[in-house]
Amino acid sequence: MHERFKYKTFQDLIRKSKDLGLDLPLSEDISPLLEPLSLAGFRIQNRLVVQPMEGYDAEYNGSPSEMTERRYLRYATGGSGMIWYEAVAVTGNGRSNPRQLWITKNNSDKFSFLNDKVRRTAARNGFNPLLVVQLTHSGRYSRPEGKPKPQVAAINPVLDKTLPYVLTDDDLKRIQEQFVNASRLAARSGFNAIDLKACHGYLIVDLLASKERKESVFGGEETSKRFRFLLETIDWIRDEVPGMLITTRLNISDLYKGGFGVDGNGLVDLTEPRMLTEQLKLKEMELINLTMGSPYFNPYVTRPFDVPVPGQKVPEEHPLEGVARMISQTSIMQKEFPEVMVVSSAWSYLRQFAPNVAAAVVKNGGASFIGFGRSSFAYPDMPADLMNNGKADPGKVCISCSGCSRLSINMRPTGCVIRDKRVYGNELKKLIADGK
Ligand SMILES: Cc1cc2nc3c(=O)[nH]c(=O)nc-3n(C[C@H](O)[C@H](O)[C@H](O)COP(=O)(O)O)c2cc1C
Ligand code: SF4
Repeated sequence: MHERFKYKTFQDLIRKSKDLGLDLPLSEDISPLLEPLSLAGFRIQNRLVVQPMEGYDAEYNGSPSEMTERRYLRYATGGSGMIWYEAVAVTGNGRSNPRQLWITKNNSDKFSFLNDKVRRTAARNGFNPLLVVQLTHSGRYSRPEGKPKPQVAAINPVLDKTLPYVLTDDDLKRIQEQFVNASRLAARSGFNAIDLKACHGYLIVDLLASKERKESVFGGEETSKRFRFLLETIDWIRDEVPGMLITTRLNISDLYKGGFGVDGNGLVDLTEPRMLTEQLKLKEMELINLTMGSPYFNPYVTRPFDVPVPGQKVPEEHPLEGVARMISQTSIMQKEFPEVMVVSSAWSYLRQFAPNVAAAVVKNGGASFIGFGRSSFAYPDMPADLMNNGKADPGKVCISCSGCSRLSINMRPTGCVIRDKRVYGNELKKLIADGK
């Protein structure tokens, strides 16, 4: 049964997880999170990663705005070893909203400027984060002008209530080229790595699942066709931007019928994610960021929470079950593919106890890096606190209230309404005043 977080001590948390039949590991010693790691010639200072978190605050031409810069400078002073920039569109038509970042030849200098500032700010604080950019096409969830403009790999009756536009092979070839062009611009703007976003229902994971796409070189029963878009785009980027580190944020299970990484009942089946990861390994991909679920269909899978966004259903399952699912499935992948460094997701629900559970997971070889999403909005300097004080401050943690998701669903500038109240508490007030 779903329940709000009410655990005052580790013992309370572990007792609850045992009652639920879960086996959450725990380490008093958080030092595994603070150990450096070398990756493709970079020395990553620690295992803590700012996960990609869309801020819905770009300029209408896709450039980072002052609000965007503010968010990234908070991360820069926070001490994470890696800052994984939010979804940046490769084409205006595939933006998730009119204020999504979008990199073009006319604004790539603005991204360079932001990266320089992030690097300088981090260096002043003794940090040197790896900067990864997440490139995306929003596919089924495109809203370039604010209204839904779904563009899908194949129709999925579980997801599609109205008839969406099914992208042709020619459309997809053009989109591949847009990913390559955006990668070239991202490399010139000073990013260290490019993530081809393949998660949360957006275009690339939709293609990975597109068994119902018939007579296409990019879909159908055979995995070689469904994996083709991603694998071919990686090769193409490697040719055009030699030496660039390429990664992907991959859904290892969509957890709905007709999705990727599921059986006929829509339950987790890692057979195809394993096959794909094997191919990524053969392409010498050294870093992968794993996640599950869809914020549009089963948000409790992607980000276990205390309360849903108003109007959405309270899920049946306990949030700790969601946390444990993400840990266990990710650990399976990391242990089977030790050559690929895995970033693990969905830690914020655990609040001040997250570092202790995460340290145990890293120590046991269940992940190489630990990514924080909502927690990075709420408490971007948690890594610095862990370095200086050996623990997280319960007064600063994310309380998984879904306030930021409420802003994002309504396409408002998004951040933490609780811990960054001056800015985002105000955004929420405006939203409520507008009757949303
Ligand atoms: C407001 C909001 C924006 C997000 N934006 C992105 C994004 O741009 N790219 C992405 O891969 N995931 C995105 N996510 C998912 C997070 O990266 C993360 O996987 C999720 O919040 C669970 O991690 P957490 O428990 O640390 O928050 C977003 C989540 C939220 C709540
Ligand atoms: S608004 Fe803040 S506290 Fe609430 S879920 Fe988002 S980051 Fe966490």
